[in-house]
Amino acid sequence: MRRPTRSRYATVVAGLTAGVVLTACGGSGSLGGDDDEASNGAADDTSPVTVGLLVPTSGVYAPLGEDMQQGFELFLEQNDGQLGGRDVELEVIDEGETPDTGVPGAQRLIQQEVNAVVGIVNSGTALGVRDAFEEAQVPLIIANAGADDITGARSSDYVWRTSFSNGEVAAALGPRAAEDCESVFLAAADYAAGREATAGFERTFTEAGGTVAGSVYPPFGTTTNYQPFLAQMQQSGADCVYTFFAGAEAVAFTQQYASFGLKDSIQLYSSGFLTEGGVLQAAGEAATGVETSLHYTDQIDSPRNTEFVEAYRTAYDEAPTVYAVQAYDAAQALDQAFENGTSGPDVVEGLKAIDTIDSPRGEFGFNEGHGPDQTYYLRRVEQGEVGLVNVVVEELTTS
Ligand code: PHB
Repeated sequence: MRRPTRSRYATVVAGLTAGVVLTACGGSGSLGGDDDEASNGAADDTSPVTVGLLVPTSGVYAPLGEDMQQGFELFLEQNDGQLGGRDVELEVIDEGETPDTGVPGAQRLIQQEVNAVVGIVNSGTALGVRDAFEEAQVPLIIANAGADDITGARSSDYVWRTSFSNGEVAAALGPRAAEDCESVFLAAADYAAGREATAGFERTFTEAGGTVAGSVYPPFGTTTNYQPFLAQMQQSGADCVYTFFAGAEAVAFTQQYASFGLKDSIQLYSSGFLTEGGVLQAAGEAATGVETSLHYTDQIDSPRNTEFVEAYRTAYDEAPTVYAVQAYDAAQALDQAFENGTSGPDVVEGLKAIDTIDSPRGEFGFNEGHGPDQTYYLRRVEQGEVGLVNVVVEELTTS
């Protein structure tokens, strides 16, 4: 995959950080809000900022991290390497697969007094770092991880999200699936995201009259053979299956679902991550006909999305994914927020003042818990002109 040509912003790879944070250049650290005159958010202050990008560059979610970095860098590329009129120093740290790597990665960025952090794929990591960001007063914009509590019971002024909540994506699909399916078998990766997604789906599917025939939770990050679970689905008598799998796990599950012979007999529904981006092309023909809910597909027919897809294709020679859009929109949010200053409290006030983000998914604003107020789509995998695509079937109503 091709990266855009280097712009004025600097990407710093984890580990090579000595002397990189730009406090010496007049940029404020983000802790405590005790800025000096030069960086207290005055309108003419254009001091540089350092942004930490915490995304997986290893493990089953590495392809998602690459998309997020590409989305974030595209916005910088389109804006002279600046956010809020300030030059940006970008420090990329590997989130890895689980909180065991993600939490220490976040702690390093906080210690380096970056002005804000963007990223985080894994819900467990998001839940594990939430308190540290609040205590250090460093703004975090989660550009994927969907842990429900992050914008619900455990919302914080210092934690924002441009992605989704796991329960909401899945709940949007339940009533629609119940129109065609009486009983469902639930299958999801065994960690916070999978558990929340199946709970969200089950709630609205059963409210709409459906029943649950069974459920399985294969271990996250280590399962490669889904056959024992597929046998249970077959024996359950369910007439549809709902899943949450993403990244490399999504490819393995979708391919084995088809080769086990279930593709044409039990309709497969999922949160859209199962069929997103490189994962979809890797799954190939096995994915055709799968129906998913998500807040984005590159097939959305709007001038804003067409312009974005073209720019992304020009930069990277591939179609954008939901992960790229979520990170692109995190850059848009920081672009507005840094107008208000660079200290943690100033950035938070700047985030609170945002009216709308002009996203390729459609304009959205932030809700009370600091998550996006957005539309979810029913998507179906079909053969497109160039490879497989997620066509928009209809908009889904959320509850
Ligand atoms: C999550 O852990 O919340 C998660 C991970 C990967 C996805 C979606 C959600 O694609």
